[in-house]
Amino acid sequence: MPFKTLDEKEIQRLNRIQRERFDELVERFEPPLPEGVPERLSRIVAAAGIRNGEVVLDVGTGTGILVPLLQSYRPGRIYACDLAGKMLKRLRKNYPGVETILSDVRDLTLPDARIDVVFINACYPNIVDKAGAFKNVARMMTPAGRLIISHPLGKRFVDRLRRNSPFPFDDFPEKSEAEQLFSPYRFRVEMLVDEPELYILTLRRPSTVLRTSRPTRQQ
Ligand SMILES: C[S@@+](CC[C@H](N)C(=O)[O-])C[C@H]1O[C@@H](n2cnc3c(N)ncnc32)[C@H](O)[C@@H]1O
Repeated sequence: MPFKTLDEKEIQRLNRIQRERFDELVERFEPPLPEGVPERLSRIVAAAGIRNGEVVLDVGTGTGILVPLLQSYRPGRIYACDLAGKMLKRLRKNYPGVETILSDVRDLTLPDARIDVVFINACYPNIVDKAGAFKNVARMMTPAGRLIISHPLGKRFVDRLRRNSPFPFDDFPEKSEAEQLFSPYRFRVEMLVDEPELYILTLRRPSTVLRTSRPTRQQ
């Protein structure tokens, strides 16, 4: 089961609506965060097991809600990407050391195999061209890379947002659906947390086991 595809004009139109909307909503993404959200964000970031020096990409970063948590793991570099320029402007003010990139994730031009960990927090339902996005994410990730798709308020919150939204929100996948959707990009599901107020999908590349065939010496 592949991701649905839309024509390019429609992708551009929906992205433009989102950009305008999120440029207006900057203040809403700033602390204080709703009760329980800081703890759930900690669980989301912990799911990636970031190691010292790894390179991290935060897709649909907004004002950078994940950034201080990411920094606490001492990554080598954090890239923060978003469609909305005003979100990134606020992020740079809040966290001057972070490299921001104004782009749809599907169009990011970071080098091949550059990123160890990709977070898509509270943004998966918003990504209009998911086929393009995950093709590009897979290209940029290292062979041992981890992809974390999450929402700190869970699926029901997204259902409520959908009622009054000027753009569509896709559902978060169940486990078997996720296996099918992501296998073309060579990701397998490592873990799925689906609680009333928390969704975390952790995906990994299947580990490549290199076997060297050394002749065994007969004595
Ligand atoms: C609901 S906000 C979440 C912001 C942040 N991750 C957080 O948890 O507070 C979704 C963000 O994703 C961005 N976004 C939507 N589609 C995107 C895409 N295709 N590529 C990059 N960013 C995108 C929007 O501009 C918006 O800032």
